[in-house]
Amino acid sequence: MLKENTSTPPSYDFFTPEAMENAHSLLNRIRSEDPVHWSPQLGGWLLTRYADVHAVLKDPRFLPATGTGRLDAMPEEARKQIRPLRDSIRLWMGNDSTEDHVRFQRILKKYFTPGTLEALRPRIQELTTELVDAAQARGRAEFVSELAYPLPANVIAEMLGVPTKDRELLQRWSRDLLPIFTASSMEQLLQSQKSVLEMTDYMRPIIAEHRRTPRKDLINVLVEEEAAGNVRNGEEIAANCVLLLFAGHETTANLICNGLSALFEYPDQLALLRANPELMPSAVEEMLRYGGIGGSIARIAGTKLEVGGKQLEPGQLVFVSLASANRDPEMFPDAGRFDITRKQNKHVTFGYGAFYCLGAALARLEAQVFFSTFLPRFPNLRLERQEWEPSPPLGKRLSALHVTF
Ligand code: HEM
Repeated sequence: MLKENTSTPPSYDFFTPEAMENAHSLLNRIRSEDPVHWSPQLGGWLLTRYADVHAVLKDPRFLPATGTGRLDAMPEEARKQIRPLRDSIRLWMGNDSTEDHVRFQRILKKYFTPGTLEALRPRIQELTTELVDAAQARGRAEFVSELAYPLPANVIAEMLGVPTKDRELLQRWSRDLLPIFTASSMEQLLQSQKSVLEMTDYMRPIIAEHRRTPRKDLINVLVEEEAAGNVRNGEEIAANCVLLLFAGHETTANLICNGLSALFEYPDQLALLRANPELMPSAVEEMLRYGGIGGSIARIAGTKLEVGGKQLEPGQLVFVSLASANRDPEMFPDAGRFDITRKQNKHVTFGYGAFYCLGAALARLEAQVFFSTFLPRFPNLRLERQEWEPSPPLGKRLSALHVTF
């Protein structure tokens, strides 16, 4: 909690139930009291102002603090135990080297084109309609598990060319991967490792099948690039499929969950959207900004640097709070309000700069198709109860959202 003496930097506890329950009020406080904050508890700097977040994300002197960096900083015994996890993460989008990262970006951008996405639209529509039909038949839904998670899980499975019948397995594995990106215990990391290894084993025969019989999907692109010498081997393909299954899934599901939760929190905005469906693209942008699903991403100071008058030393960890930047009143007037007509909405939920989210257009498309189908179908949509679970540090996520129609 904030110390009385204002001459010493304030200190904050990021792991209290209040910090998880109401992360935005703590972030607002830090942004006004000590916007570039050194946290001994997090073992790094926390950046909360939009201007600083934006500047750091576009500055190549800040290096990506990938999962491997964090794992490598652990004590030797722990490092040994999670070695297989580290070896797999190392291959994610060429995690360890800029050259490999650019190589993978080039390969994947061949697939993530506006043309590929438009071609996916009818299938996304079909999958959405199937889910909404099933929910309608039941008359009520647990929105998180029955609608928000299955849609992106199905879409990414189809894009990759993985059987959608295994969707639930993929969902469970993806959830197990979350601790890799957050503050987590050894036990959680070992569970992540188990799931990463299971996912990799699962991918191997699917990749082999793609080598025998070419298809029109993302694994096919990777297999062709392997044949052309641009991807090293099947392990690199499998590891990146694991990454894409996770990246394309959990985040988009959270966008859809938090989006609906925000519409319930602001019934005037829900009514406005129902009456003006053409507002859907700007409503989804506001869901992205307001929902704070990006949380924070990490960087490492590559050299001695100054941010907001504070001196950062080489090697220091920097937590870039996207959620806080998205609520900075300097950038977003009335930042705490969910406003689907917001005109200037340059949120940083998809990051910025060299690591900008590859799936941003896909996530937007999925959310737009979903809400355009779901909302008109249920004019009497009612929230019964929502349940949150902590997602430390500084956050919570919806674990259940019970609705009736
Ligand atoms: C609402 C949904 C999504 C959110 C909020 C989100 C967020 C992000 C963020 C913040 C980053 C940057 C990380 C950094 O700078 O360290 C990122 C990168 C990435 N995202 Fe997303 N993402 C979403 C959906 C997707 C989807 C649907 C896919 C793929 C199908 C995807 C694939 C990726 C990949 C591959 C990267 C790494 C890009 C690179 O390193 O060049 N994401 N995402």
